[in-house]
Amino acid sequence: MRNAGLASTLLLLAACAESPPPDPSRVVAGSAAQGELYARQHCVICHQIGDRGGKLGPVIGEAVKKAVERSATFETIVAELERVRPEHREEKRAKIDPILAELDPERRLRLWLATYLDDPRFENPANRMAVLPMSPEERANVLAWLLSLR
Ligand code: HEC
Repeated sequence: MRNAGLASTLLLLAACAESPPPDPSRVVAGSAAQGELYARQHCVICHQIGDRGGKLGPVIGEAVKKAVERSATFETIVAELERVRPEHREEKRAKIDPILAELDPERRLRLWLATYLDDPRFENPANRMAVLPMSPEERANVLAWLLSLR
């Protein structure tokens, strides 16, 4: 695992599960090691981590790749969402628009992931991932760990 440094462990957090989008003013440092511990207890139900895990979701490394890809092509994803599910696009405007407005790829990825962990269906209503009730600290830790897997 590379040392991503303080900058990339500064994370944008969602305050709670459903309503407000991640608030850029609430920035805390996450611990990738703690995030891995959490993931090996909770995310492993559906994702393969190391040599064990469920099969409902992709192997965790592949999941991270998918997140990187969706964040990088977010304009296209949102345009398609707007075409097929305009009401969903509208409902999630407060979560989607700040990501569209973030042009720095690294900061955009962090915001995408923080939003996704808070609300996996925010940009794809067909997503089958469960919402896990994570504290802001747990989410920051998981986020730091996911980013370290790239
Ligand atoms: C109930 C099963 C389940 C749990 C628990 C779960 N996931 Fe997922 N996850 C999925 C599924 C299924 C997908 C694939 C999304 C889809 O296409 O439906 C996914 C996709 C992802 C992705 C890729 C994003 C995407 O759009 O596909 C990431 C990153 C991810 N999960 C991270 C996590 C992390 C981190 C945890 C633990 C905090 C977690 N998941 C817990 C089922 C789960």
